[in-house]
Amino acid sequence: LRHFLTIEGLKRPLLTEIMDRAEQFSSISHRQVKKVPLLRGKTIINLFFENSTRTRSTFELAAKRLSADVMNFNISTSATSKGESLLDTLHNLEAMHTDMFVVRHDQSGAAEFIAQHVAPHVSVINAGDGCHAHPTQAMLDMFTIRRHKQGFANLRVAIIGDLLHSRVARSQIQALATLGVGEIRVIGPQTLLPRDSHTLGVHVYHDMASGLKDVDVIITLRLQLERMQGALLPSAREYFRCYGLTEEKLKYAKPDAIVMHPGPINRGVEIASSVADGPQSVILEQVTHGIAIRMAVMSMALASQSEQAEIE
Ligand code: CP
Repeated sequence: LRHFLTIEGLKRPLLTEIMDRAEQFSSISHRQVKKVPLLRGKTIINLFFENSTRTRSTFELAAKRLSADVMNFNISTSATSKGESLLDTLHNLEAMHTDMFVVRHDQSGAAEFIAQHVAPHVSVINAGDGCHAHPTQAMLDMFTIRRHKQGFANLRVAIIGDLLHSRVARSQIQALATLGVGEIRVIGPQTLLPRDSHTLGVHVYHDMASGLKDVDVIITLRLQLERMQGALLPSAREYFRCYGLTEEKLKYAKPDAIVMHPGPINRGVEIASSVADGPQSVILEQVTHGIAIRMAVMSMALASQSEQAEIE
C-alpha cells in the first residue's frame, strides 16, 4: 500500500486490515493515550486545492497522533498565484524531505497524476479528486457500518441523491461490493444517477418508498452543485419533497436502520434536521472514525515505504 488513490481493485483482506488497524487506533484513543510514535521523524504535507473541513482536519489530527510532522500547505497564499506549475510546486515541497502528500483536488485523476510524478520514497493519499474517488471517506463509512452492524453479508444499503457527481458514492459502492454486502440500492432522479448504474452491481430506484423498504443502512448525499455546470436542477424545495430524508420516509427502512452522510450536510435539502440530529443518525460518529481510519491508512502506507527501503 504505497499510495492510497482508489478503492477500485483493492481486495477484501486489505480493506479488512485497514478497518482492523483503525479499531486498534480507536481503542488507543479510548484508553486516553494521546500519541503513538509510529511516524516520528516523518513529514506529511496536506495539499488541498479544494476546500475541506472534515477530511483536512482529521488527516492533520491523525498525522499528529502518529507523531509525524504535518504541514498544511495553503494554496491561496502560495507561489502558485505567481504562475508556478503544480509539478514545480510539488518538487519544491518534496525537496523539504516530504514522505507523504495528502491530496485533494477538484479534477478527477489529480491524485493519480501527482503519484506518478513524486519520488519513489514518497506516498500519496487521495483525499478526494473531482467526481472520481474519496477512498478514506469510503473506508471510514465502512468502519462505521461494521461498528453498528457486525458484518456486511446480510445488509441492504441504500445510497440516496446525487450519485452522478459523488466521488464518495463511487468509492462507497466499490468498498461495499468488495466487502460482499447483501444488496446495494441507489435512489434518486434519473438525472442524478450515473448512466452506467446498471454496470455497478446496484439496484436502481426512483422513489423513496420502494427504495428504502427494509434497508439496514441509509446514506444520504449532498447535491454537488459545484460540479453540475449547466445541468437542469430541481429546486431545493422540490428535491426535499421527493428525496429529502424525513422522519416519515425513514419509517420505510428497518427500525434499527442507521442514517449516514459524509458531510457537509444541507439541512432541509437532502435531509431534515430532525433526522440528521435524531437517534438513528451516526453522522458525527463517521467524522470521529475518520481519525482512526486515516491513522491506519497513513501508517500502512509509510510502513510499506520503510519495508521497501530496507529491501533496497
Ligand atoms: N466528507 C468530506 O469530504 O468532507 P469535507 O469536504 O469537509 O472534507
